[in-house]
Amino acid sequence: MISSFALSTEELRESYGQGACHCPSPNEQMTLVFSQSKALDLVELEQLLQSVGWSHRPPRKVKKALDNSLLKVGLWKHDPKFPRLIGFARCTGDGLIEATVWDVAVLPIYQGFGLGKQLMIYIKKSLKEIGIRRITLFADPGVVEFYTRQGWVLEPKGHRCAFWYAN
Ligand SMILES: CC(C)(COP(=O)(O)OP(=O)(O)OC[C@H]1O[C@@H](n2cnc3c(N)ncnc32)[C@H](O)[C@@H]1OP(=O)(O)O)[C@@H](O)C(=O)NCCC(=O)NCCS
Repeated sequence: MISSFALSTEELRESYGQGACHCPSPNEQMTLVFSQSKALDLVELEQLLQSVGWSHRPPRKVKKALDNSLLKVGLWKHDPKFPRLIGFARCTGDGLIEATVWDVAVLPIYQGFGLGKQLMIYIKKSLKEIGIRRITLFADPGVVEFYTRQGWVLEPKGHRCAFWYAN
């Protein structure tokens, strides 16, 4: 459902940047917005990623990784003064053929309301719009089903996937 407090196109653009759009909200009192261009506060992003249990990454590296990403999506809980980042994901890629999704996270208190699914729908749509038709991701063991239920296909029997880790 789109909240009854939906923003006008102009308000969306002013507060969340070009191309921002509403995310269906589980609660009509809560206005949710996807934005690819609203500036991310690195501290707020770090808090979100740590809230889902991920380890700390140096802010300078994170900033550079964001700058080099093909797509960064913030899911914002709208507030005229203090919008709150409640979800995030980013993609890397060549911008034409391939993209890989990273750092998909929804703040724990907002989990289980369909927002992670909406985030993935939004990412697939955004990548499709720039012509990308093959997307990969590396799911943590506990969330494989979250993806397969949305139509993601597991690489069969581990035959075609390779990793290399620097020591
Ligand atoms: C994974 C995550 C993004 C899902 O977000 P969410 O908003 O809680 O998910 P949704 O409410 O949209 O769930 C969509 C569907 O997936 C299911 N689902 C959600 N998390 C799941 C999980 N861990 N395992 C299996 N199914 C899951 C839901 O039950 C729901 O099913 P339904 O469509 O039949 O009702 C969120 O739990 C999260 O941030 N987890 C911590 C970070 C993480 O592990 N990210 C993924 C890294 S690969």
